[in-house]
Amino acid sequence: MIHLLKILTWFIDMRINFLFLSLIIIFSITACDSPQPKSVEKVALDVNSTELESLNSKSADTLENNEIKAGVDYHSFSNPNEVVVNHISLDLNVDFDTKVISGTAKLKYKKQTPDANTLILDSKDLTINRVSANGDDLPFELDTGESFLGSALTISLPDNGKELTIEYATSPSASGVQWLTPAQTAGGKHPFLFTQAQATHARSFIPLQDSPKVRVTYDATIRTPKELIAVMSASNDPQAERDGVYEFNMPQAIPSYLIALAVGDLQFKAMGERTGVYAESGILDAAAAEFEDTESMLIETEKRYGPYSWDRYDLLILPPSFPFGGMENPRLSFITPTVIAGDKSLVSLIAHELAHSWSGNTVTNATWRDLWLNEGFTTYLTYRIMELVYGEDRYNMEAVLGYQDLAAAVDSLDAKDTMLAIDLRGRDPDDVFSNIPYEKGALFLRELEQKVGRDNFDVFLTQYFEDYAFQSITTDEFLEYLSNTLIAQYPDKLDIERINEWVFSTGVPEGAPKPDSNAFTVVDTARNGWLAGDVLATDIDTEKWTVHQWLYFLNNMPEQLSLEKMSALDSVFALTESKNNEIAHSWLLMSVKNWYQPAHTRLFSYLTSIGRNKLVRPLYKELAKTEDGKGLAKRAFAKAKDGYHPLTVKANEKYVQ
Ligand code: BES
Ligand code: ZN
Repeated sequence: MIHLLKILTWFIDMRINFLFLSLIIIFSITACDSPQPKSVEKVALDVNSTELESLNSKSADTLENNEIKAGVDYHSFSNPNEVVVNHISLDLNVDFDTKVISGTAKLKYKKQTPDANTLILDSKDLTINRVSANGDDLPFELDTGESFLGSALTISLPDNGKELTIEYATSPSASGVQWLTPAQTAGGKHPFLFTQAQATHARSFIPLQDSPKVRVTYDATIRTPKELIAVMSASNDPQAERDGVYEFNMPQAIPSYLIALAVGDLQFKAMGERTGVYAESGILDAAAAEFEDTESMLIETEKRYGPYSWDRYDLLILPPSFPFGGMENPRLSFITPTVIAGDKSLVSLIAHELAHSWSGNTVTNATWRDLWLNEGFTTYLTYRIMELVYGEDRYNMEAVLGYQDLAAAVDSLDAKDTMLAIDLRGRDPDDVFSNIPYEKGALFLRELEQKVGRDNFDVFLTQYFEDYAFQSITTDEFLEYLSNTLIAQYPDKLDIERINEWVFSTGVPEGAPKPDSNAFTVVDTARNGWLAGDVLATDIDTEKWTVHQWLYFLNNMPEQLSLEKMSALDSVFALTESKNNEIAHSWLLMSVKNWYQPAHTRLFSYLTSIGRNKLVRPLYKELAKTEDGKGLAKRAFAKAKDGYHPLTVKANEKYVQ
């Protein structure tokens, strides 16, 4: 009996010990977890593909009252919480005759739970020929439901295994690839191809988990016609022999939207120790001269915000159909040629794409709702870099112009789309693209900077980039981090209510900073005097005006000007002939609003030779407001359409119906 009792007490003891031990383990896991910035995979929930499909078939209005789940990527079918892909090896052939990229993608994956047995990937307009592991076929299913998100590719995984191979081919109309004929290039002799993956287009040229919270390393073998070279967002070798087979390696883990490829008759020119430019030979020297300050920008940014993590920083100058100003593909930003102005007036674009090497590529938005973490921080850094390299006047002028863009965006957008943490459920991020995440985000950071002091704010930013390096982060995680760091450090200067107002309210908060520039005072005086009839255009002393002053002069003209006034401006300042694409844009917009016909030939050639959406879209939109305007828009669009990128076609076709 005593024996039995002894066993019983021993048993109870053990249970208590075990309980105690478990508690200690649980406690220590949470305790060592909490002060660290959490990686997104640990906290994120995912919606399953059925949920996502039903969500995207509903209108945004029906969704409004449901709570948004922070960290859920509403724009990917993939299941990284169950199985996560961490490396991709590509072996691809680029065929210009059929406009098809085909070959294999070998995916290395890791099961997050022991019983996970399916891998779900994103795909869009891909033909999947075979999925295999170690030579054995793996069962797969490609959803038929096609939306702007493409279709889920569900693969059954073997019990043991770490990688699989997908044989696939892209469609000639892949939304993330543009195929250009020789006539659409600067040289006119060879075709050109480039990809543009952000936000949800990587899936149109690679089957993968197309979510910014999933990071992969990659390597690639790209096979092209022999006379062309391939470059990627990876280590590039400018000396590589032109033999039609090119090897790449990206050893740092990046989100899928940063995977990029271009193929063309490209040459390379060094600009500095770590910086250089790839372009067609006809524009190589002009590009290298225009962007010669890139190396200084890199050095200055490092001094202020910590070391550059990506080894080299090169630029690739694309043909004019590139739909964006720039794209921050790591190690190799893709750049529109429309900023080669001859006077470095538009190089803030380079500062912007370079800045993404910190804000965006190193610390990445976890979902597209959090885009402002990429673009707002980058826009803030852009202003700062411009000041470091070109001085305070330039900083002030660019900040005022940015502020005016913000005011225009707030005026023209639906209130709900003026929030930083925007509700994108059921919506294509391409359709919601605006200046809000850029300029409102930057202004928010400017307010924080002013409250805690510039140097202190820079210390915070540098630490933030370091703490979250190579991680993807949600708005909520950022706010928690901010509470634990800057707000805790300066409780008398910052408060969370104000910060929440910036992030979760519409419009611009009352009392927000308002950038100001002395250099614009003379411009206001000149414009006002001329509008009042007190000063003739010939008497305005514009000799020393910078491009920014010109932009400020034009952008702040009244909506309606008489033909006489338009002609006076044009004859004195030759605006229709301006070689600066931004000035030309502002002037052409005025010309549409006032139906100033002498500018129509230039307008037509502008619309048919540039595909950068930011420059052409406002013109199409304005033209569509009148019958005559629509006629001109239709003619220009019909001529240009074949040469426009799919995104530019999609954004503008509604104006020419
Ligand atoms: N990453 C963006 C371009 C982008 C954003 C593509 C969202 C697709 C979805 C790039 O860094 C950018 O912001 N480009 C701007 C530059 C400008 C603000 C200086 C552009 O293209 O106009
Ligand atoms: Zn950007």
